[in-house]
Amino acid sequence: MATSSGRSCLQYLLHLAQDNLDFRLPEIKALLALRGKPFHSCKNFKEKSPFWCLNGLVEEDVRSIMARSVCAKSAFELWGHGRTHSELRTSLLNYPSENMSPFMHKDSTYRINVYTFNKTLQFAERIKRIDAMEYLQFEGTVNLKNPQHIFCLLEDYGTDPNNIPEHPDYIYFGRWIADGQRELIQSHSVKNRHFIGNTSMDAGLSFIMANHARVKENDLVFDPFVGTGSLLVACSHFGAYVCGTDIDYNTIHGKGRSSRKSQKWRGPDENIRANLRQYGTEKMYLDVMVSDASKPVWREAALFDAIITDPPYGIRESTRRTGSNKEITKPTEGIYVESHVPVSQAYHLSDIFTDLLNFSAHHLVMGGRLVYWLPVYRPEYCDEMVPLHPCLQLISNCEQTLSSHTSRRLITMEKIKNPEDLDTLANVADPRFSPYQGHNAFREKYFSGLNKRCGKEDHRSAVNGD
Ligand SMILES: C[S@@+](CC[C@H](N)C(=O)[O-])C[C@H]1O[C@@H](n2cnc3c(N)ncnc32)[C@H](O)[C@@H]1O
Repeated sequence: MATSSGRSCLQYLLHLAQDNLDFRLPEIKALLALRGKPFHSCKNFKEKSPFWCLNGLVEEDVRSIMARSVCAKSAFELWGHGRTHSELRTSLLNYPSENMSPFMHKDSTYRINVYTFNKTLQFAERIKRIDAMEYLQFEGTVNLKNPQHIFCLLEDYGTDPNNIPEHPDYIYFGRWIADGQRELIQSHSVKNRHFIGNTSMDAGLSFIMANHARVKENDLVFDPFVGTGSLLVACSHFGAYVCGTDIDYNTIHGKGRSSRKSQKWRGPDENIRANLRQYGTEKMYLDVMVSDASKPVWREAALFDAIITDPPYGIRESTRRTGSNKEITKPTEGIYVESHVPVSQAYHLSDIFTDLLNFSAHHLVMGGRLVYWLPVYRPEYCDEMVPLHPCLQLISNCEQTLSSHTSRRLITMEKIKNPEDLDTLANVADPRFSPYQGHNAFREKYFSGLNKRCGKEDHRSAVNGD
């Protein structure tokens, strides 16, 4: 295949999936950042559109985005575009012929696809569209099965299925470069996963989280509320070494009742390591251990490249931590305590997030990312409720609606400062920096309201829809 070296000022077209709309821009920006590239859209960029046109990239950048993206379906080198077929023709005829010729010469084979968004075209109409493009000087041979080059005419009929226009709103033509990783959603579906629980994170969102976290090869990634390890599965797929903790002994050791209807008890090898083995990434598994995320168990050091987690909301699993509200009477020294069964107390949501941000500020490497879900009671949500920390910069905040009143927000933060480099705690002016300032009363109320309201609803189908 001809290379694109020396072909400058190219534009690329991304065709994106029309689900998880909020998550797409942070995903593409994060993947570009892994290449050291900023996100430069063409003018008239519409975030909710299925088509984005990008500037300032080379083909290798685009290929590397598509090798990771779960939000993007396909990418094309854009040769022409317009509001009508006549505008498209003018645009294509103005495209530099030296950019086209490596892919159109007589020894090449090619195919042209027609793709329509929000409208179905009959076969005959598609053929008509292709025939109408005879003004392009393709000298090669058509090969439908295995062509060297694939071209695509893409027609955008808007996003309203109840109001489909007769003519497309916009038309693009380009050379196909690569498809995204949408097939991971099926291949890693929790439906076919060896070890699952009631709150296993769906595959697509797990990969999106790993992308928002900019997880890359040989990173060390930690999930403090690891559950059945769905996030470790996604991160290990991208080449990271993974580890996690959970307060639940049965989850960590793969024991106890099965979450499958057809099965009463978990089988002998139902554990997180076996999940990674299922997908061929067992070598990236470091370990998991029983531990309470509210208690410091790690040595004081910047250990992790990313912390990526789905904390308990108190909806399907209780928010507990070790310890007791009652005064604990210490055993008399020297008396042997045969087995210690830790008692537990409520772990309030606001404390969970305060602890998580604090932990991340101390244990992320500089530039490392924290990605986590924040449950939200929609009628009372405002952006000011998102917990902040002076060492962590908020990168993105994406909503996934669960019901009319509830949603969860995927929060991505990046470590920008070491806690020991903060001048004094008094200099932390923003009252939302709760890890240092105690709980602000407003957010306490908000979280306790959320705890009460969400406790009454069952989010099972919405959260687990894979
Ligand atoms: C929403 S689930 C995580 C699900 C996980 N992402 C998966 O794919 O299976 C939250 C997990 O946090 C654990 N958890 C609850 N309180 C905890 C605590 N204080 N410390 C550590 N883990 C805790 C629960 O046992 C549960 O497994």
